[in-house]
Amino acid sequence: MIEAIADTPLGLDVDKIRKDFPILHQEVNGHPLVYLDNAASTHKPQAVIDALALYYSKNNSNVHRGAHALSDRATQDFENARGTVQAFLNAESSEEIIWTRGTTESINLVAQTYGQENVKAGDNVIISAMEHHSNIVPWQVLCEQVGAELRVIPVNDAGELQFEDFLALLDEKTKFVSVVHVSNALGSINPVDAIITEAHKVGAKVLIDGAQAVAHWEVDVVALDCDFYVFSGHKLFGPTGIGVLYGKKELLDSMPPYQYGGEMIEQVSFSGTTFNKLPYKYEAGTPNIAGAVGLAAAIDYLVALDRAALAEHEEALLERAKLRATEIPEIQLVGTAKDKTSVFSFLIKGAHPHDVGTLLDQQGVAVRTGHHCAMPIMEQYCIPGTVRASFTFYNTLEEVDALFDAINKVKLFLL
Ligand code: ALA
Repeated sequence: MIEAIADTPLGLDVDKIRKDFPILHQEVNGHPLVYLDNAASTHKPQAVIDALALYYSKNNSNVHRGAHALSDRATQDFENARGTVQAFLNAESSEEIIWTRGTTESINLVAQTYGQENVKAGDNVIISAMEHHSNIVPWQVLCEQVGAELRVIPVNDAGELQFEDFLALLDEKTKFVSVVHVSNALGSINPVDAIITEAHKVGAKVLIDGAQAVAHWEVDVVALDCDFYVFSGHKLFGPTGIGVLYGKKELLDSMPPYQYGGEMIEQVSFSGTTFNKLPYKYEAGTPNIAGAVGLAAAIDYLVALDRAALAEHEEALLERAKLRATEIPEIQLVGTAKDKTSVFSFLIKGAHPHDVGTLLDQQGVAVRTGHHCAMPIMEQYCIPGTVRASFTFYNTLEEVDALFDAINKVKLFLL
């Protein structure tokens, strides 16, 4: 065994943290589960499971509607959860926090409201070559609908966004820039501060896809000065089906609604309808109340931990993986950006990623294989996809070693 060049920070008790996540303690295919698919979805601490059980067993009702105690309690829980997200992002007002189904819906909402109102024929929208399909297709469709141009910031072989090229793409016709904070396929961390500053100089608004970032470090939307920031609950130790759109209040106020129906209206008559104030204007229909409550519990759980120590530990996991990879000449890393976090994408020369993934699963190691919903960057690298191990704070250095022990067995089988 080679020595780790980084180690779990002193004082961070990962074994204790792991006890909070019941799902981790099981065998898969006769081996202890080694769950390294956290970029796809994270597991839930008992505190989140308990919050969901409490909500459904004691408080479940519809919100903002009922004249009874349970509805009051559900409403209180739901709005407190919004306050928790506001504090988590350091947003100025809870009116700036819109509940959605997840990152994908948040981006679609902005494209079809702000985008439809403000992007005109001849304008352009800028994204990057490393985006997830959910941050490509909504803008591609918008551009087709209005006759605008979709411009793409190039990414180099290491998976680094080319900032000088971004500056060259920006002009007075740029109305919107939408980029990912951390690439789900490569782990690259983008210089979003500088992107936002430069985009604002030409009057463009900026959306940051934070789906892969919020679980790893603190995000402050005021300090970033982004116009929109979006993320999903299930990648942040919360439930599926709940997500967040943060938007600056003046922008959200100026945009048309996304969907129409109950909750988002102020007054309805057959001669016309007026719309509710923020944030309800964007929350048509009964919302995912339990999801919001569960997400707030996940945030409460996370912020009570030492986040700097968690980040240091995650860095140690990635460093260990990089180091162990040097022992295996057949491993080709995909995504070697200088600034990257928690995603270890690779290929084994001569083996298809799906076969590698299947054989890892047989040894209890859960990874994701394929294009990771980022086909254009895979196409650029002329590969069908990758094997992706993605780490979070409940993973251990021993689990990284288990991944490499399993890869060595895969090699014996496939090569
Ligand atoms: N976007 C998620 C991933 O990268 C599903 O796996």
